[in-house]
Amino acid sequence: MVSLLIFPDPVELYKAACQHILRAGERAIAQQGYFAFVLAGGSTPQAVYRLLGQEHAALDWGRVHFFWGDERCVPPDHPDSNYLMAREAMLAYLPVPQENIHRIESELTPGQAARAYEEQIREFYRKVLSNRGLRAGSSAIPSFDLILLGMGEDGHTASLFPGTPALAESQRWVTAVEHNQPPPPLVDRVTFTLPLINAARQVVFIVAGENKAARLEQVLAGRSDPPLPVQLVQPASGNLTWMVDQAAGVRLSSWGLESQQY
Ligand code: 6PG
Repeated sequence: MVSLLIFPDPVELYKAACQHILRAGERAIAQQGYFAFVLAGGSTPQAVYRLLGQEHAALDWGRVHFFWGDERCVPPDHPDSNYLMAREAMLAYLPVPQENIHRIESELTPGQAARAYEEQIREFYRKVLSNRGLRAGSSAIPSFDLILLGMGEDGHTASLFPGTPALAESQRWVTAVEHNQPPPPLVDRVTFTLPLINAARQVVFIVAGENKAARLEQVLAGRSDPPLPVQLVQPASGNLTWMVDQAAGVRLSSWGLESQQY
């Protein structure tokens, strides 16, 4: 199912995204005992993390596991680090055990970091399954409970940029990306691949600001050949939700796209 939710202003969008995540977390914990939540970088996600960071009592945070959908290849204490951003906006304020914070080891080479992260994910799901007396096939792709994504003005998401080889990756779950053209920062990246993203139980895009309006129109009205990275996000059996503010969604009504599920 695909949903489009348009909010009157960015603050309403951030609040709704925060509540959406908390509800997904509650449901996952009730169903399976943990919530595997994948974070995005960027300023729109950051605003949502600031709200989540105030929700100390809203969730059993000891059962939430945090992953990152992409990372910039800088040390974890660098201002461009997606890990640092999430820690400063949210994780530092929540009672989350250190072992639940599964960061990308961006201080390694990009290739090493990608392989190590894929192994970290494999290990996490191996443990989850073995706790239930099950065993995964070595190629079984895991379904994260919620993958949060932003959208760049160029139609990138995570660190999947238009026209780059990472878009064609069909085997790996995590891959290294050379990144030497805008948008900044011009540092290599490590990113979830489309097969891993599309295996999620749910994917949520959060998009704010008038600078995203033209791209969002193009993305949701389906006019791009070849398709943009964001258009390749099509969960196989999970839900896809677009949460956008009025400024970003301003051109959608002329296509008959209103806040709705379709
Ligand atoms: C990153 C991101 C990236 C981001 C979008 C949207 O590492 O930069 O993961 O994909 O989410 O570029 O960012 P804004 O919300 O800042 O526009």
